[in-house]
Amino acid sequence: MKLKLNLLVVIIVMLVLGSCKNKEQKQTITTDTTMTEYYNEPYRPQFHFSPEEKWMNDPNGMVYYKGIYHLFYQYYPDDIVWGPMHWGHATSKDLVHWEHKPIALYPDEHGMIFSGSAVVDKNNSSGFGSLENPPLVAIYTYHLMEGEKAGKLDFQTQGIAYSLDNGDTWTKYEGNPVIGNEGIKDFRDPKVAWHEETQKWIMSLVAGDHAKFYSSHDLKEWVLMSEFGKNVGAHGGVWECPDLFKLKLDGTNEAKWVLLISINPGAPNGGSGTQYFIGDFDGQEFTTDQKEHLWVDWGTDNYAGVTYDNVPNGDRIFIGWMSNWTYARDTPTKIWRSAMTLPRKLSLKKVGDNYHLFNYPVQAINAIVSDKTDKTLVIASETNKLLTSENFNQSEIRFTTSSKDFQLKFSNGANNELLLTMMGEDRTFFLDRSKSGKVDFQEDFGKGIQQMPVPDLPDGEYEVSVFIDWSSVEVFINNGQYVMTSQIFPKRNYTDLTIQNLGDSELSMKAFSINEVKRIWD
Ligand code: FRU
Repeated sequence: MKLKLNLLVVIIVMLVLGSCKNKEQKQTITTDTTMTEYYNEPYRPQFHFSPEEKWMNDPNGMVYYKGIYHLFYQYYPDDIVWGPMHWGHATSKDLVHWEHKPIALYPDEHGMIFSGSAVVDKNNSSGFGSLENPPLVAIYTYHLMEGEKAGKLDFQTQGIAYSLDNGDTWTKYEGNPVIGNEGIKDFRDPKVAWHEETQKWIMSLVAGDHAKFYSSHDLKEWVLMSEFGKNVGAHGGVWECPDLFKLKLDGTNEAKWVLLISINPGAPNGGSGTQYFIGDFDGQEFTTDQKEHLWVDWGTDNYAGVTYDNVPNGDRIFIGWMSNWTYARDTPTKIWRSAMTLPRKLSLKKVGDNYHLFNYPVQAINAIVSDKTDKTLVIASETNKLLTSENFNQSEIRFTTSSKDFQLKFSNGANNELLLTMMGEDRTFFLDRSKSGKVDFQEDFGKGIQQMPVPDLPDGEYEVSVFIDWSSVEVFINNGQYVMTSQIFPKRNYTDLTIQNLGDSELSMKAFSINEVKRIWD
């Protein structure tokens, strides 16, 4: 056995050396015989969730039950491009390390299994389980391809399934679909939650250019209550993946309701993106006087994100799909396609007179982030400082500063550069991946510079945290007030970080640290 492993290592090293000649990116290879090639392919995220193989899109059915976070996801098990959708399944005890589970839901005579949610039916309102063993109930969209191909409009309906063994196996409800379709072409992505005040289930659903809210006492019979959004918010594309939940204004007892709506296309930097509304919900109707368009994330790669149901301390935890429909099918990975964002805690804060949704990695992530000693970096006006590391592609760079004029450039010996720039005069943050590595697999990927207005940055000190994995970068400014998530495909890992002071006074970065992030797949 040992001999065989040694031979395997030699073969892997030869393959890697061979691919280096072609200037392919490679990840660190050890000659340790216990090391496998598992989750070590080029561009494989080391601390983000990705499926072992094949195509993944939206996170689905995010529910916490009996100490376990379940993550279901849109999955096509036969190819690395989108196809007949199933629900893949993974579980985690800490939202950091994941265990792959068998496929949870397969297409059936009503259609493919599109996006949806899952709840713990604690009172057994559905009758699928018992009070002693309450069922997990999944609520999802059926997409009937035959109907779509025949040019019909009613091919999306809503179905439910239940599990009595903690999500391991699922039984579809014999009365499916539970909501039929009266001729609405885009009619999907049910997100269900228990509404304590009125003691009923509330479903948010999207219908092309607006959201619809339904209620139910048993998860089987649904009544339409209201609609929202035809003339509010961004409408550059179809509304998808809604999520309605209550959130307390940080540090107060004041509660507001937040509605997340993904739209594709029509995001501020092109293609897919997620907007949000802050308002009130009386058990029947969602209302808001919000005028501006607000975005969860200004980067190109955070889509279809929704939040966990039933989290013990009431935390709102969000995970998004780290891709964009503009090029999701073209990204240069071979065995699998795409990953999820880091799990992020949502919080509601007031900025001036307005409410803002902040999103910031959950604290549990710190378990895999090395705590390097902090230092203060001081860089004179219009000069720069070069910092090197064996590998920036598994790291978090963190500091606080009051400067609004600086640039972080991550680069490598293959002339790849990723530029993150804060420009005080424009009150804008820029993410430029046009030379970040492979960009030519699709025409829009490397085009343009992504921009995020940062009008309300504090005048004083604020924190910047940048997580870089082998094919993504996530930037959190002022603890998640402003966020950008973007895929990158550097030909080799970044080894240089050049920090440029663009201002006319000294740049001071306090508590500056380059923290290593551990791989989660051992
Ligand atoms: C969002 C989405 C959903 C749909 C699913 C299909 O990315 O288009 O609206 O349910 O993907 O895979």
